[in-house]
Formats: sequence, C-alpha cells, structure tokens
Amino acid sequence: MKQQLVLATGNLGKLREFRAMLPSFEILSPKDLRMDFDVEETGSTFYENALIKAKALFELCGKPAVADDSGLCVKALGGAPGVFSARYSGGNDRDNMIKLLKALSGKSDRTAYFESCIVYYDGKRAVESTGRTFGRITDEIIGDGGFGYDPIFLSDDLSKTFGQATEAEKNGVSHRYRALVGLREKLGLDNEP
Ligand code: IMP
Repeated sequence: MKQQLVLATGNLGKLREFRAMLPSFEILSPKDLRMDFDVEETGSTFYENALIKAKALFELCGKPAVADDSGLCVKALGGAPGVFSARYSGGNDRDNMIKLLKALSGKSDRTAYFESCIVYYDGKRAVESTGRTFGRITDEIIGDGGFGYDPIFLSDDLSKTFGQATEAEKNGVSHRYRALVGLREKLGLDNEP
C-alpha cells in the first residue's frame, strides 16, 4: 500500500503535477480528507511560508504533509513582488500584471525568475527543495494561457511567454517541476518508478 501524503492545496493542476512526480505516494488534498485547511502566510520567504503550511497541515491531519509557496521575483524591483505575488495589486491576476508592467516602465533590466519552495514535513523531519525558472518581463501581455504572471513572463528556456506555452511545455521547465525533481532526490525516491 502506498504511503499517504497530504498536499496543502485544493488546486487540481498542482495535485496532478505532484501525483505525476511522486508516484510512490498516494497524494491527497485536505478536501479528500474532508478537512478545511486555511492558514495565514505570515512568513517573509517562500521557505518560511511553505514550512508554516506543511507543519499546520501535519498538525491538522496527522499525516506526512507537503506544501509549496511560490512567486515571481523581479531584479529591478529588488525581488518584488516575491512572497506578495498573489496579493501584489489587491486585485486579480490581470491587475497584478498591469501593476508590474507600470512598475517596470522605462527600466531596461527586465530579468526575473519564478521560485517555488516545497517543504515535506512528517513530524520528525522537514525536507526542503527550491526550484527556479528564469526569464524576462515583457512590455505587454502576450498569450492567454496559464495563470498569474504567465502572459508577461518570457521564458529563457522556451523563448515564448508562459502564457503562450502549452501546459506540458511549461511543466517541463517550471520552478515547481524543478523543486519537485530536487524533492524526489532528497527524499531518496529517485530509484523508484
Ligand atoms: P502560490 O504559491 O501557488 O500561492 O502562488 C503565489 C502567486 O505567485 C500566484 O498567485 C501567482 O501570482 C504567482 N505564481 C506562482 N507560480 C506561478 C506560475 O507558474 N505562473 C504565474 N504566476 C505564478
């Protein structure tokens, strides 16, 4: 029987990605366990927030838990919006992109990266893995795929915006994918299917 692992999300895309990358676990969402999970992300780094969520979820359900925290870091803005990526403008994804394009107006250095920090916590040990994917912020919104800042992030790996990429293309180079590759290694799962 597979060991159960609870993922701190209700997002089906994330659940799919984690299930594909960690096939030796049965990955459950809090909803699968009929639990309401909501915790305030008070940390000042992706790692702190992921650890807060993984520990809180472990306390809630008593099973090994994983949580991730991610966001966009823009060099010319000193790493902003960073941990505030989801709440940058106080509005929706489009408002966030427009605020970021305005903040970068006239700036020549548009380099940026997405970062994802994933933490596994089972009551005894915390295992952390961070992944990054690099690119540049475009001058305008290009493409309508993905979510968040995808349509203004021109990927170095794909030479198009994440908003123009297919889900499979993005998943092969994404910050979360890279963090998951690292987590597999650190949990010693690399010799498993
Ligand atoms: P969360 O860690 O999934 O809650 O993501 C935090 C925020 O970072 C999201 O709401 C997005 O604004 C941004 N973000 C994280 N990953 C991505 C991505 O792959 N594409 C676009 N935006 C992202």
